[in-house]
Amino acid sequence: MKQIIHRIGLLWTMDDETRSNGPRCGADAMRAVGAMKDVAIAIDEEGVIVDVGAEKAICDLADAQTQFIDAEGGFVAPGLVDPHTHLVHGGSREKELPLRLAGASYLDILREGGGILNTIRETTAYSEDVLFAQAKTSLERMQRFGVTTVEAKTGYSSSLAVELKQLRVAKRLAESSGVNLVHTAMPAHAVPKELPAGREAYIEELVSMLPHLQAAGAEFADVFVEEGVFSVDEGRHILEAAKALGMKTKIHADEMVPIGGAQLAAELGATSADHLLASTDEGLLRMAEAGVMAVCLPGTSFYLQKPAARARFMLDEAKLGVAIASDYNPGSCPSENFGLTMSLALLTLKMRPEEVFMAATRNAACAIARGHVAGVIRPGRNADIVIYTAANPEYVLTHFGISHVREVFVKGRRIL
Ligand code: NIG
Ligand code: FE
Repeated sequence: MKQIIHRIGLLWTMDDETRSNGPRCGADAMRAVGAMKDVAIAIDEEGVIVDVGAEKAICDLADAQTQFIDAEGGFVAPGLVDPHTHLVHGGSREKELPLRLAGASYLDILREGGGILNTIRETTAYSEDVLFAQAKTSLERMQRFGVTTVEAKTGYSSSLAVELKQLRVAKRLAESSGVNLVHTAMPAHAVPKELPAGREAYIEELVSMLPHLQAAGAEFADVFVEEGVFSVDEGRHILEAAKALGMKTKIHADEMVPIGGAQLAAELGATSADHLLASTDEGLLRMAEAGVMAVCLPGTSFYLQKPAARARFMLDEAKLGVAIASDYNPGSCPSENFGLTMSLALLTLKMRPEEVFMAATRNAACAIARGHVAGVIRPGRNADIVIYTAANPEYVLTHFGISHVREVFVKGRRIL
């Protein structure tokens, strides 16, 4: 046996005896965290979990070469999965906050040519190496909070060349960082102020980028469906084209105005719909029927000073599968602190600690089609594991704003 993590006080496996790979939907299922006390985990040479069980039985698997990792009675859980980030971008947008505090809305700033359009200008201007250095710093910050899998979107561009540049940076990070990355194409993120060839031609240009982005490694396509950005019909058109190519889909849905983003996600059978601050009951119920994961972004509602998504309705009434994500980006959530995201899920989404961890592990993995490889601790799975300094998850979540992570492993390799 290569490694044994032992003296684990409390382990949440996020698993059960059915060994299914799907999401957990509704409050009851999301609270079933597969708790085990006083256990150890055995990991082989390939970084795969061999066995999870009582301390003594697992320690008996040791040989002369086994490396013991002492959890010191701490809490242990699967590596965290951040299923919605805008990781690769140029520059920052701190100058927008005073404008918002003075009364301008996020969409007002975008309409005036700022906001996302500002980051598009910077991302276009910066070299690939500069973008890589900035994103690498961000990814390292994420790792410190126990994140082992990250979704990264393109979308700060107005041309295919800049979309591909962002994708190349994200792929370079995947190769060099040890963190698992999942790539999403989001050319439909903002509409330029001037459209010389007209709006329809612009939408077709976005559609024409998709096969190139897919060939370059994008697995998902995402659209910002919002009043004043992309309409439901435009979103449908772009995402139908993505589906025809065999891409999976996501939607930035109902962030500000409930124009039907949740309903569109249900209609398309999207893997997830994200934000959902303004979604109607009907939209959320349709998502549940269609098996679409609801991805809540509590850092974004906090930073935009908006009421959080209705996670209790999602969990208790609609019985949705709920995941959480940082939405790390320069405009609506400039923070890579996924621990804070989780604390805000507790405090503003009013989720229970069990639900928060399920939303940040197993369900987050399902939100990026990684339910079969990430988000649970189970024999046969990659050893993506976080050892916390605290003895219980409630302490991790309530003592907020700092990292409680002692050690992080990806495929058995220590990355922190
Ligand atoms: O998920 N809402 C649209 N897109 C991002 C924000 C991007 C930005 O402001 O740079 C989001 O919040
Ligand atoms: Fe986003």
